[in-house]
Amino acid sequence: MARCQARLETSLSHWLPPAETHPAALHAAMRYAVLGGGKRIRPTLVYASGQAVGSDWEQLDAPACAVEFIHAYSLVHDDLPAMDDDDLRRGKPSCHKAFGEAEAILAGDALQTLGFYVLTHDKSACDSVTRLRMIEAIALAAGSRGMVGGQMIDLAAAGRQLDIAELEDMHIHKTGALIRASVVLGALTRPGLAAETLERLDHYAKCIGLAFQIRDDILDVEGETDILGKRSGADLSLHKSTYAALIGLDDAKQRAKELHEEAMDSLSGLDGKADPLRWISLYIIERDR
Ligand code: IPE
Ligand code: IPE
Ligand code: MG
Ligand code: MG
Ligand code: MG
Repeated sequence: MARCQARLETSLSHWLPPAETHPAALHAAMRYAVLGGGKRIRPTLVYASGQAVGSDWEQLDAPACAVEFIHAYSLVHDDLPAMDDDDLRRGKPSCHKAFGEAEAILAGDALQTLGFYVLTHDKSACDSVTRLRMIEAIALAAGSRGMVGGQMIDLAAAGRQLDIAELEDMHIHKTGALIRASVVLGALTRPGLAAETLERLDHYAKCIGLAFQIRDDILDVEGETDILGKRSGADLSLHKSTYAALIGLDDAKQRAKELHEEAMDSLSGLDGKADPLRWISLYIIERDR
């Protein structure tokens, strides 16, 4: 992860316009929201998935950056007063607190399009047909039938008790979709990959995507603001439907563990090159931020 984080920081900074580029307030807000923070799980998954199928680091930089730009945009908008109204993100004031609400909305917009620009523009990654498939996958995952749809379900569910199926549906959309796309993008860098391998990776990603949000919900209860870098207890104060609230912490942890095991089973046919994917799955259910 440390290697991915260091590599990514350089690439992200390269693709982001310099802070003084006109209009400077916008570019400063974009750089603030992306650089110097975040676990970089989604790009790490792009690298790990690509390496599991035999691709090189160089082929994976562009899709890794693209998913992180789109994720960073989703966090900027998630924190806005009209959404979760959170003041703290990645250990510093959230983007709208530092730059203003309108500026944060625009920075989020621009980060999203930057993600697509990177995918179209970077020719080292793969041929144009593969890049189109990547764009299709990420567009679907980030949009109304993926992450944004999940955010809508989340808002509509506040103050209402969801059942477990509704809760999983929300999690699979708001968080699972982008995590799934990260793994798929990594795998797509390998031309002619067997359909069965892609299916196995996709199933792995579905499991860890749901486990990721279950752990996020648990950390909202058990985590410490200083370590999380975002305010703990935020879900409770907004009466959010979460795994922890619905089935309790112990059962939520058990469910995350089961999903980890299911993810391991999906990778059973893959060799040692898939070990980083195995480690990430374990990290996801045990992390403390
Ligand atoms: C937080 O994502 C938002 C969710 C989808 C739960 P991360 O926990 O990956 O946040 P960063 O990128 O490390 O800050
Ligand atoms: C956010 O879920 C999912 C996104 C698409 C950004 P949360 O609202 O639980 O994320 P945090 O806890 O604020 O990071
Ligand atoms: Mg939210
Ligand atoms: Mg939030
Ligand atoms: Mg949360």
